[in-house]
Amino acid sequence: MDKFVIRGGNPLVGTIRVSGAKNSALPSMAAAILTEDEVILENIPQVRDIETERRLLTSMGAQIFQGEVAGDAPNSISISFRTLSDPVAKYEIVKTMRASSLVLGPLIARAGMARVAMPGGCAIGGRPIDLHIKGLEKMGATITQEHGYLEARAERLKGVHLVFDRITVTGTEDLLMAAVLAEGETLMENCAREPEVADLAALLTAMGAKIEGAGTSTIRVRGVSRLRGARYRINPDRIEAGTFLVAGAITGGDLIVTNCNASHLGAVIAKLEEAGARVEILGPDTVRVRGGKLRAANISTEEYPGFPTDMQAQYMALATQAEGLSTVEENIFENRFMHAQELARMGANIKVEGRTATVRGPAALSAAAVMCSDLRASASLVLAALVADGESILDRVYHIDRGYERIEEKLAGVGAQIRRMGNVFAPRNDETNAD
Ligand code: EPU
Repeated sequence: MDKFVIRGGNPLVGTIRVSGAKNSALPSMAAAILTEDEVILENIPQVRDIETERRLLTSMGAQIFQGEVAGDAPNSISISFRTLSDPVAKYEIVKTMRASSLVLGPLIARAGMARVAMPGGCAIGGRPIDLHIKGLEKMGATITQEHGYLEARAERLKGVHLVFDRITVTGTEDLLMAAVLAEGETLMENCAREPEVADLAALLTAMGAKIEGAGTSTIRVRGVSRLRGARYRINPDRIEAGTFLVAGAITGGDLIVTNCNASHLGAVIAKLEEAGARVEILGPDTVRVRGGKLRAANISTEEYPGFPTDMQAQYMALATQAEGLSTVEENIFENRFMHAQELARMGANIKVEGRTATVRGPAALSAAAVMCSDLRASASLVLAALVADGESILDRVYHIDRGYERIEEKLAGVGAQIRRMGNVFAPRNDETNAD
């Protein structure tokens, strides 16, 4: 019964705080596999994907403490892999979270073997992991596939020259974690430049890894024989921050977004300004957004530092309120427009053709019962409901709980009329093929 009930019409006013980045926290937790020592991570968001990763690592033998038990704030986590008893990522867990494939590289590097369930498709497209496999094979792993599992073996991985056929975020992270314990030097080219890669590299460096160039397209790693424990603070979530900036702009509010990293928000801020919102960078971790008369502007998703695919759905909600014709081009994933149909049910004027959606605005949105299909699609429906006339009911909000920490409490804190019916972390049996 996890639903949001949202009554639209209130401008959001006040201060809203950003949590730690889910997509940094997930690889960073996997990095704990690489050492027998304790890894303490701060600023971990309390979201469902983190719970899932915690279950995954525990099933492999990790001892995990969270919050006060780790002797720190509730958002810190301590992970110890003194023994890696079972280097297996089971299908029951992998099927609910594709990022589980991030354990492949670290498991081979630490244990010389791994069994990881194939993730399968997901709501936003096929999302294969062939590039992870290709890189690990080049480093000397033998990988076979049977009964839906990848089985990988390697004595010790070897440093090699890798050029990614296409840019992949978790692929870069997975191979980076493999390379840090490999023998010799690994040169990786055409790497993802996302801040989450740099975040992971900073943690690995604190653990004793020798990495140069993370955050650029060329990363050089000198393998070491052992890594130690570390304490590391995860960067703020740039997609949560971007979502709040859109929330301020779409509701015609005045919102101060704190605890973010303004330097990671360049493409999103530039586009919001082009669309008529007033954005001010008040400091390195604080951005203010005020609504203005919204006008059409086109977006085209790209790898970082381009406009993020993870903000495409939220931007589409904004475009429904902008004067004129906006085009929204999705270049990263093949099937990431599921929110368009739901937005149309609320009265948006959207046409989807292949990779491009055209949105004619402004449309007077009217509240409706809508269905969340994936994490960012859910965020776009929340944004639309905040400006729709009447009371919307969003079903399947477990999707939003995967990546936004108590979003309803944060939005209610700045004036949104939003409430949850149900329980944030109630166990679910029907979750599959998740993004
Ligand atoms: N791809 C391949 N082969 C591979 C790997 C990727 O063909 O081996 C393709 C994918 O199918 C896709 C493109 O390459 O078309 C880019 O995929 P990428 O691997 O970069 O995506 P990802 O690493 O699986 C991460 C984020 C996503 C985010 C994308 C793009 C995590 C845990 N997930 O996914 O986040 O959309 O990068 O920036 O970091 C989200 O948070 O909502 C989310 C989906």
